[in-house]
Amino acid sequence: MLVFVFVLLYVAATSASPIEPGWFFSSLPSSIDGKTRVNAASKTHTVYQNLWYHNQRYLALLDSSSQDEQRPKLKPELSQNTGLVPFPVKDAKAFAKNLKAGWLPGNTLLLDFPFAAFPENIGHWQETLVPVYNVMSSRDWLQEVQGNSKHIDTVFMLNLRREQLKGLDWVWEMLRLVLEPGMPTKGQSPTLLFYDQTEGLSATSWLAIENAIVVNDRYIHPEGAAGFHTPELGQAFRKQAFLDQKLLAPSKAPMTITLLSAHGGEEVINRQELLGMLQEVGQKLGMRVRPYTVTPQAPFQSHLTAMARTGLLVSRHGPMMASSIFLPPGAAVLELLPFNWNWKDFSRIYLNATRSLGDIHHFAWLARSAKFVRYRSENESRYAHWTAAECSSRECLEVHATAAMVADVETIKHILLKIIPGLQKGKSVAQLRQAWPEAVQNSGGTGLWWDVA
Ligand SMILES: *[C@@H]1O[C@H](CO)[C@@H](O)[C@H](O)[C@H]1NC(C)=O
Ligand SMILES: *[C@@H]1O[C@H](CO)[C@@H](O)[C@H](O)[C@H]1NC(C)=O
Repeated sequence: MLVFVFVLLYVAATSASPIEPGWFFSSLPSSIDGKTRVNAASKTHTVYQNLWYHNQRYLALLDSSSQDEQRPKLKPELSQNTGLVPFPVKDAKAFAKNLKAGWLPGNTLLLDFPFAAFPENIGHWQETLVPVYNVMSSRDWLQEVQGNSKHIDTVFMLNLRREQLKGLDWVWEMLRLVLEPGMPTKGQSPTLLFYDQTEGLSATSWLAIENAIVVNDRYIHPEGAAGFHTPELGQAFRKQAFLDQKLLAPSKAPMTITLLSAHGGEEVINRQELLGMLQEVGQKLGMRVRPYTVTPQAPFQSHLTAMARTGLLVSRHGPMMASSIFLPPGAAVLELLPFNWNWKDFSRIYLNATRSLGDIHHFAWLARSAKFVRYRSENESRYAHWTAAECSSRECLEVHATAAMVADVETIKHILLKIIPGLQKGKSVAQLRQAWPEAVQNSGGTGLWWDVA
């Protein structure tokens, strides 16, 4: 008998309330009209009022009174990896009232990491988070939200699990920094939600987000724009990063060449030879040389300190270059670009970032032929005759992203001998600027960036 009553009570409780208020949401207030409204007037972000989540999908609830106005503003996607489904009903308010759904109040920043399989790739984190800083700083989004909150209450990582960010101090510190202009007081953090939370909701439950802010990273920005909005903003960000870590922000580039390498990845097979050449050039031109090998898990402070001590950063293209935005004013980057690696304009990720600060020089040497690749097997070397345009499949890209590079030390030496004196004289970025080496047909050129085929 007791068991029977228990079961009855349980059934009554669950069917009357399909969604129990959880730690991150409350019950849907009866006053809301439920209609999804979209404000997509800005190129930098989109704000959704009453964005719905149900059964692994994000939905825009439209009814006869809002359909004509809102429908044309909806895109098939919310962000790079997340779709948005229009959901027409007759009367949104009546519909919502019957759901007894959950309510996530205030302002929620939806963050979609472009490559969820590589959460430790701090290069893509930089691409994702710098645009967030632009939007948080401009505060335009505050005109487009409903309700009383004047700051970011919640950050929702749409496609990542909490455990995927374990030990990534760089990501956590950057996240805190980019959100700072959107927080009510310094040091305050928003509620942080991950994919785990929505996954845990029952398939019959609904959740309405009062305001959802989606920042357009370069993958969804109408012009593919990346980097800081203005040099002033980028420079202020750099300063703040050092300040927050209680480090002295460097005011000028020291006479040090740093050879940056990723621990266990993006190998330069003749690194010793490269280092020897740098030492030779350094001796000749009065610069110290310092090898620096780092992992994405290294403390944010280490990344910052290493950049502050660098006047010229030499590195193979790779995620560790994400920290190049913290180089001192007047410093330079010489990036070694691998052969056949330019899908989705990847070769410019770090160029666009440093360029947006306005006071960091950025040069590159491009491996223009397969002789600069050390393939691991016969199997991989079948891509040796492909062109950069042809190399867009996941396999070809992975081969070239991970195969060891042979740096053309002689050519790189010539580049350095040409640019370092200009740097030492304090010439401006505009004065020293060089054309970015474009991936060309596989013609087996010399690899010089001025050797345009
Ligand atoms: C670099 O900036 C240009 C101009 O804004 C843009 O078209 C391109 O998509 C950007 N590429 C990357 C990788 O950020
Ligand atoms: C050769 O490459 C293909 C595709 O990348 C892969 O499926 C296969 O296992 C490779 N074979 C060997 C022997 O490495």
